[in-house]
Amino acid sequence: MAGADDALIQLRGVRKEYDEVTAVEDVDFTIRRGEFFSLVGPSGCGKTTTLRMISGFETPTAGTVSLDGVNMAGVPPNERDTNLVFQHLSLFPHMTVGENVAYGLKKAGVDSATREQKVEEYLELVDLEGFEGRNPNELSGGQQQRVALARALVNEPSVLLFDEPLSSLDRKLRKQMQVELRKIHEKTEGSFFYVTHDQEVAMTLSDRMAVMNDGRIEQVGTPEEIYREPASAFVADFIGDTNLFEGRARTENGTTTVEIGDGTVSFPLEKRVNDGPVTVSVRPEDFSLASNGGTLRGVVTERYFQGDQTNYIVEPDSAAVSDVRIVTQGRDTPISRGDRASFDIQRGAPVVFER
Ligand SMILES: Nc1ncnc2c1ncn2[C@@H]1O[C@H](COP(=O)(O)OP(=O)(O)OP(=O)(O)O)[C@@H](O)[C@H]1O
Ligand SMILES: [Mg+2]
Repeated sequence: MAGADDALIQLRGVRKEYDEVTAVEDVDFTIRRGEFFSLVGPSGCGKTTTLRMISGFETPTAGTVSLDGVNMAGVPPNERDTNLVFQHLSLFPHMTVGENVAYGLKKAGVDSATREQKVEEYLELVDLEGFEGRNPNELSGGQQQRVALARALVNEPSVLLFDEPLSSLDRKLRKQMQVELRKIHEKTEGSFFYVTHDQEVAMTLSDRMAVMNDGRIEQVGTPEEIYREPASAFVADFIGDTNLFEGRARTENGTTTVEIGDGTVSFPLEKRVNDGPVTVSVRPEDFSLASNGGTLRGVVTERYFQGDQTNYIVEPDSAAVSDVRIVTQGRDTPISRGDRASFDIQRGAPVVFER
């Protein structure tokens, strides 16, 4: 596992301006040696631009990108120890699988015996041993993807950069390739930098991830840290499911209470925050069915039973509170669509952002 000080790629104050647009603004993060690191955020937030500055296809307007302690300013892409796997995989159609994988080695002047041995080794790694002689058009989408992966891995770069490499695959294949990628990462012990707009993919694959919004990094951490302790309402909402409430915090006799809407929904907080307007994030699983009383009362408008959990949409009695998503774990509860129900919020669960 990578140590905290084992920095491989460092971005410091990185900014990218196009004519009218600031695509990336003041970005700082560090990718450690051996780490699977994802950059996740909505479409147009600056992910590809950031990746292209690491690979050298784009020059930062300000700030520095360094690789293994060396400032990469002025170093062209082919002289950087990185390899890129694109969103739309691009195998050479007129070359066999073996020739595709060997391409980079040949360009680097590696002799044919070594090439052959490396191609065999990396095709085996992606579970395609014996496929050397096939043509790309004789492969399924997932197999083509794995050839592209072998081709990127075969040069044994310090860092492998991925730009949404799975988005063109169907759901099932995408799931398989995720597992594949994780396994390959473990086997090669390389550093992976993975760009995606899909928070679920980022959560599943990453050791650590950076959440980007509108050109800026909002938070860097492990998937668990980001899920449990989101740094902003944007992060809370983008990573996982949550309910965001706008309310007002007030402290009396040492206890901070949040009141939502007209005040019919209110609950105490464990941490003290300043009096004033707040946004509160409560995850669907942080509610529990109340036997009587309860913080949130309303009508269950939707109910989906999923075996190990049950999902509810609750329309609160208070008109000022919008619909709430709730998940209960374990055995099903005897609540049907249209029933009235009341829920408590687990103490300490809400995450509060002062506005
Ligand atoms: N060459 C360019 N010239 C001008 N503007 C650009 C250029 N490339 C990107 N942009 C703009 O910079 C912003 C960030 O683009 P970028 O491609 O980095 O987003 P992204 O996060 O990769 O999005 P997606 O998830 O849709 O791929 C966008 O507003 C985009 O329109
Ligand atoms: Mg992109």
